[in-house]
Amino acid sequence: MEPESKVQTLIWEGKSLKLIDQRKLPFAVEYVVCDTYEKVGIAIKEMVVRGAPAIGVTAAYGAAIAGIQYTGSSKRDFIKYMEKAIKFLSSSRPTAVNLFWALKRMREVLNKSKNLEIEIIRQNLIQEAKKIEIEDISINRKIGENGLEAFKDFKGNIKILTHCNAGALATAGYGTALGVVRSLAAAGKIRYVIVDETRPYLQGARLTAWELEQEKIPFFIITDSAAAYMMSIGEVDSVIVGADRIASNGDSANKVGTLSISISALYYRIPFFIAAPLSTIDMSIENGQQIPIEERGEKEVREVMGTKIISDKIPVRNPAFDVTPAKNISAIITEKGVIKPPYKENIAQIFGK
Ligand code: MRU
Repeated sequence: MEPESKVQTLIWEGKSLKLIDQRKLPFAVEYVVCDTYEKVGIAIKEMVVRGAPAIGVTAAYGAAIAGIQYTGSSKRDFIKYMEKAIKFLSSSRPTAVNLFWALKRMREVLNKSKNLEIEIIRQNLIQEAKKIEIEDISINRKIGENGLEAFKDFKGNIKILTHCNAGALATAGYGTALGVVRSLAAAGKIRYVIVDETRPYLQGARLTAWELEQEKIPFFIITDSAAAYMMSIGEVDSVIVGADRIASNGDSANKVGTLSISISALYYRIPFFIAAPLSTIDMSIENGQQIPIEERGEKEVREVMGTKIISDKIPVRNPAFDVTPAKNISAIITEKGVIKPPYKENIAQIFGK
């Protein structure tokens, strides 16, 4: 498949999945080969691959790999094996709903093909994973185009702040929030991008910066705690971030730190945009309080790139996401258009409810 940007997050190799090791970027470009569903689940958990859409596509390939791994001839055992694999993959990370959305699609293929031969089901699973990957790239391109509509009041020279990485690395290609940045840059509207470093995993400093550098889009990095100051001196005129799960009322979970940025943006009357595919919207939940927030291991906070900065005796917590209330969000840019408040009504409308 034609890569949509210079970054290739994942490469399907027929029987295994190659994932760019995002723990090592930007200092080393290495790929991790996953030839079992267990390896895929571990790669998601350990954040070799991360970002909601990329997690979804990866998990789909994980289920396809499980189909290849099964070597028996009993259909019943095959279905049981697949159920076990899907359960394992579902347990890798809790917040990004795209994971569960993609696995639901894989399960549907399984349910629909129950009367077919194992080899046919196997091929159908692979085809579905490929479809999810291809769709993700075209969805992101559409989000990028719709981003131009969302920013139509900005004449140019945009000074846009982003948090975490919602770029090609977080998706099958092109990116969501960074996809909008790419489209704005192509339209000559970007002055610079302000990249929050995004403690503790440094998705901004390591990954977003790496992507922007390759795209030759002007940017600089700030510490997370500098965001409000930069707004206060007029150096930020808009914010764009991705999302891991959006409740049906518009409350949006994203990388921890997003909430503080949204509060500062509201205070300084700076438009705050979310860019996300519809697969990130969880219509089964009413509000952000129902979104499961992942707490990750202490090590990520205690160490920076393998160097200990906090003694083992000192207590640490590591919530990985937070929830931005819908009222702080100016618009949600999706592949089906730009959703504006009131979110409950307008999200329901986009889903035809
Ligand atoms: O912990 P991560 O790196 O998986 O968190 C990623 C984010 O918070 C992204 O902003 C989100 O998944 C959107 S990616 C297009």
